[in-house]
Amino acid sequence: MKTFIELAKTRYSVRKYKPTSIPTELLAQVLEAGRIAPTGCNNQPQRVKVITAAEDLAKVDQCTPCRFGAPAVLLVCYDKTVCWRREFDGKSCGVADACIVATHMMLQAHDLGLGTCWVMYFDPAKVAEQFALPEHIVPVAILPIGYPVDDAAPAPTKRFGVENMLL
Ligand SMILES: Cc1cc2nc3c(=O)[nH]c(=O)nc-3n(C[C@H](O)[C@H](O)[C@H](O)COP(=O)(O)O)c2cc1C
Repeated sequence: MKTFIELAKTRYSVRKYKPTSIPTELLAQVLEAGRIAPTGCNNQPQRVKVITAAEDLAKVDQCTPCRFGAPAVLLVCYDKTVCWRREFDGKSCGVADACIVATHMMLQAHDLGLGTCWVMYFDPAKVAEQFALPEHIVPVAILPIGYPVDDAAPAPTKRFGVENMLL
């Protein structure tokens, strides 16, 4: 069994997928990981659209070039009428909530042998239009998800040392 740090260190952005569908029970486990994520004031504003139908995947392709052939996409959003807002500057934690949810789901997917890639390169107005999102639902991340192709490999990314992140 992988430790958390092994899981985190072996996850990478998958940009080539097999067309094989994801078994429903695995998808359910990924969504469960998103459901239990912490959110500001526990308001749970996350809203996730599971996209698997060919015509809906084609709509994703209208919004981003970054589906990478995945057979499924999780569109991670938050409801801005539900998320917590701090009184000092009115800042909402909807984006933070949605990002934690997406991270939980990415790591759960990896633990199940599935690949994902966080995609921010999309036009939110187009996403709202293609998926008829109401005005209060804000899309934050598109997560293509599926089985990586057999020769999938991490891009040569490197991480700076801890000293770089310490202020
Ligand atoms: C907030 C965020 C936005 C990202 N947007 C994109 C994107 O639009 N397209 C893409 O191919 N990768 C995107 N990525 C993936 C990053 O490029 C990737 O995580 C980074 O290069 C490190 O590589 P790794 O995930 O393989 O460790 C995004 C990642 C994050 C966290």
